Amino acid sequence: MTDYKNILVEQRGNVTLVTLNRPDSLNALNTGVLADLIDAFAAYEADDTQRCAVLTGSGDKAFAAGADIKEMVEKDTAQFFNEDFFAGWTDDFTRRTRKPWIAAVNGFALGGGCEVAMMADFIIASDKARFGQPEIKLGVLPGMGGTQRLVRAVGKAKAMDLCLTGRMMDAAEAEASGLVARVVEHDRLLDEAMEAAALIASMAPLAAMANKEAVDAAFENTLDQGIKYERRLFQVITATDDKTEGMKAFVEKRDPKWTGR
Ligand code: CAA
Repeated sequence: MTDYKNILVEQRGNVTLVTLNRPDSLNALNTGVLADLIDAFAAYEADDTQRCAVLTGSGDKAFAAGADIKEMVEKDTAQFFNEDFFAGWTDDFTRRTRKPWIAAVNGFALGGGCEVAMMADFIIASDKARFGQPEIKLGVLPGMGGTQRLVRAVGKAKAMDLCLTGRMMDAAEAEASGLVARVVEHDRLLDEAMEAAALIASMAPLAAMANKEAVDAAFENTLDQGIKYERRLFQVITATDDKTEGMKAFVEKRDPKWTGR
């Protein structure tokens, strides 16, 4: 397994656990973290033994407190523009990960931290988690998709409230507003996320990818286009061995044995 400078990667059975590992800066997301995540998630994607991933933060305090302000403070506009700063988070990280992954948010998820959590297929949060887009307090705005994904997750009213005031919301508010799928006791967070990931990993892998793709398509399409897209994906997935196995196993009252074919 590759040794990374900014993250830890561990395979537990068929689940890959990735931990952001810059606790001294509350796991602030610099270009090194991005490069490591792109590499680690590409390896996860390519490894047939791995069926789900979990991303969490090291330390007890933060999932990630945002993009690394110390990396950005001296950069000028030409550098941000020439580097197309932040593009890799969507183009090379999120879009290329077609297998499922969960964000296990263990503390502050602010700015880029909230944005990375929202890149996950869903979020499981500790009851100590806090979410926010405080970029306005730095004289800027979110740059890794926060204004767009937050509106889709919680609606315009709350997204605007969070972006314009820079306030944080606690886990209960995040759950009530639909940002997170589940809130669990802080000490149970990793177990709960790993159990959810193991359950996903026990499903037919092609079906998992197709479910993810179809749900994500809801963000891009009209209802009519989305329903047609889902129906086509359903029809395509019926060509898999795992469809035959899954349905036969149900009828024969036994557990299915997936092959990923
Ligand atoms: N970038 C770089 N370093 C950071 C950081 C960040 N986003 N967040 C925290 N740190 C560092 C601090 O500088 C501090 O380092 P030193 O000990 O070397 O001074 C260390 O982490 C611990 O932080 P604090 O002492 O501030 O801890 P605290 O408990 O008092 O406060 C906090 C915690 C409220 C999260 C506070 O650290 C904070 O407000 N952080 C910045 C949050 C933020 O503004 N995030 C948005 C960043 S911009 C962005 O993300 C743009 C985008 O859309 C992609």
